[in-house]
Amino acid sequence: MNSENAPLSPSSKPLLRALKGEAVWPPPVWLMRQAGRYLPEFRAMRDKADFLTRCMTPDMAEELTLQPIRRYGMDGAILFSDILILPWAMGQSLEFIDGRGPVLGAIRSQADLEKLDPKRVQDATAPVRETLSRLSKSLPDVTTLLGFAGSPFTVACYMVEGGGSRDFANTRKMMQTDPALFDRLIETLTISTAEMLCGQIEAGGEAVMLFDSWAGILPPNAFRRYVIEPTRQIVRHIQEKHPNTPIIGFPRLGGIMIREYAEKTGVNTLALDTVADPAQIAELVPNVTLQGNMDPMVLFSGGEAMVREAQGIRDALRGRSHVFNLGHGVMQHTPPENVGALVEAVRAI
Ligand code: CP3
Repeated sequence: MNSENAPLSPSSKPLLRALKGEAVWPPPVWLMRQAGRYLPEFRAMRDKADFLTRCMTPDMAEELTLQPIRRYGMDGAILFSDILILPWAMGQSLEFIDGRGPVLGAIRSQADLEKLDPKRVQDATAPVRETLSRLSKSLPDVTTLLGFAGSPFTVACYMVEGGGSRDFANTRKMMQTDPALFDRLIETLTISTAEMLCGQIEAGGEAVMLFDSWAGILPPNAFRRYVIEPTRQIVRHIQEKHPNTPIIGFPRLGGIMIREYAEKTGVNTLALDTVADPAQIAELVPNVTLQGNMDPMVLFSGGEAMVREAQGIRDALRGRSHVFNLGHGVMQHTPPENVGALVEAVRAI
């Protein structure tokens, strides 16, 4: 239970119960990137439409969200979408290119920033809310529906670079040479992200997750300013309107800073990356649910080694509210049968 918040009202869904602070045994399980190219039925849909079309067409996004649930019955279904839908909805150009990943028109100046229009977000993301509202009817009764967004810092990294990057040098340079511009970008994203997540909750999302995949590249003071503070504002905004909806934060590779993140942001659940040691984090970070954190690579071996690894994580957090997950997303060439075996191993008593 988060000590700073009032207790959240109970639920009969195992994942929602754990996200609200209950120690559920065995722990509920879902996987980041559980809908993806490792599934043959996902690859079949890829031939039908490009990625953005799949995200923005409710029929397709609903189907893609349901595929892993049908096969494996995870406790949580995460909306099929992407963290870069937000900049796209504000008017930034976005394309997903095979083998290269996302490509956006880079934001490098005040003039670039002014071309974006946050007022477009509500209308442009209407299909996403339609997908959630359909899913809240089509999912099994025991399955929790998760909405999500990127955190302002990680989304800003892609917006400034114009895509992925090894070191996000342009973004880090902007933080130093034009901090006022970077602050405006973060502020714009903070407000839009909070409003977008409220819209997802109103459409049927029962919990939401904030992905801060690149939080770990920041030194401590920048981490406080660009990761903790915007996340705190988003959490406060959501909790004012939806005090009963759990929020999961994922400050990936945040190291020792994740303790301060958990204390100051007010997230209900801290998602752990692969380098975090669950037993140590359990001591370091009290009062929140922990989510994670098996290395997705273990899914390539499968078998006894995987069962041991998964049950080791699960057992280390026994007695604590825990949601079993990976420490990062399912990888492309993962053998699908190992995903099924993982869900079974987590549930085996
Ligand atoms: O199953 C789920 O987890 C739900 C959907 C989801 C996707 N992306 C679908 C997707 C979620 C939650 C994300 C989050 C996301 N997107 C993050 C944060 C998590 C992380 O992995 O660190 C980031 C950084 C992105 C940005 C992004 N989207 C990149 C860098 C790429 C290219 C890499 C790749 O795997 O192709 C994407 C594309 C993307 N997002 C795909 C999927 C299923 C693959 C595109 C395709 O299948 O055509």
